[in-house]
Amino acid sequence: MTKKIAVLPGDGIGPEIIAEAVKVLDTLKSRFGLKIEMELAPIGGAGYDAAKQPLPEATLKLAKAANAVLLGAVGGPQYDNLPRELRPERGLLGIRSELGLFSNLRPALLYPQLVHASTLKPEVVSGLDILIVRELTGSIYFGKPRGIRTRDDGVREGFNTMIYSEPEIERIARSAFDIAMKRGKKVCSVDKANVLEVSELWREVVTRVAKDYPKVELSHMYVDNAAMQLVRAPKQFDVMVTDNMFGDILSDVASMLTGSIGMLPSASLDAKGKGMYEPIHGSAPDIAGKGIANPLATILSVAMMLRYTLNEAALADRIEQAVSKVLDLGIRTADIWTEGTKKVGTKEMGDAVVAAL
Ligand code: IPM
Ligand code: MG
Repeated sequence: MTKKIAVLPGDGIGPEIIAEAVKVLDTLKSRFGLKIEMELAPIGGAGYDAAKQPLPEATLKLAKAANAVLLGAVGGPQYDNLPRELRPERGLLGIRSELGLFSNLRPALLYPQLVHASTLKPEVVSGLDILIVRELTGSIYFGKPRGIRTRDDGVREGFNTMIYSEPEIERIARSAFDIAMKRGKKVCSVDKANVLEVSELWREVVTRVAKDYPKVELSHMYVDNAAMQLVRAPKQFDVMVTDNMFGDILSDVASMLTGSIGMLPSASLDAKGKGMYEPIHGSAPDIAGKGIANPLATILSVAMMLRYTLNEAALADRIEQAVSKVLDLGIRTADIWTEGTKKVGTKEMGDAVVAAL
């Protein structure tokens, strides 16, 4: 059966990197019999430009009907002064929430070829393979009440609510333990239980769920320490499971261990394994339109899509091997370029991956 992929390029470098990922998918269709059809729709600032909404009705409908969603990135300075509910980021948060994509998998894998692109010492990062499981539809990102108000004494204050229900914690914990069973069987749960009640409940529920996974070794860590440990000795981790906002921050930290945020894909899954796939980096308005962005994170997101939603593990392997081969050849975009390698643009990098498939 032909599967439908909703392709949402978004803003900034989004369209450029998505074009290369689509090229890879087209090649899998024509040369390896992958049965998919793709349909494009606007989101973020592009959604606002097209339909005055960061998540246009038609885009949401397409995403809901599709088997999987491939997303570029959203955001740009030209949208910064819009009312909050019309900003591009709201489109991204909206689609995550509307599709129930609560489990966000953010691998940080260091390709041996890029060991010198990392700002950390080779011995600290070589062989790194960690997975951050970020809760994606709850906590302070979505909690109510929220807003900016003026107090009786005339002073303005901003407020948000960090909140998790027990079932929300339980399902993300299960998601992390299930994945850990297929990896190194270690889960580190990251919280701020020394200060926050919401974290106290988080820790209690994760500990309870762990009893169903006796083969998995569970540890707990405060988020400040976890940030430090990630740059001190990142190889101590296998799977890290954490809150929406902590995961946002820690996954950016983890990305730099691998040399560039331009290398890291992600998957956001619902309870049934339907997913949205996107690079973890943003829309990078400073380099948009220059043709120099690294498309590999998006191409590797396609590999995750093949593995997690389309049940095409062999094709996923093929993409990952092609990326590895391209790196072996010394082909690099600017963000991962080091002395002695060949600097190429977005399109040439996409072409190189297609050639290596
Ligand atoms: C991410 C991004 C988003 C987030 C922004 C763009 C809303 O930083 O996917 O990590 O905070 O979740
Ligand atoms: Mg982020």
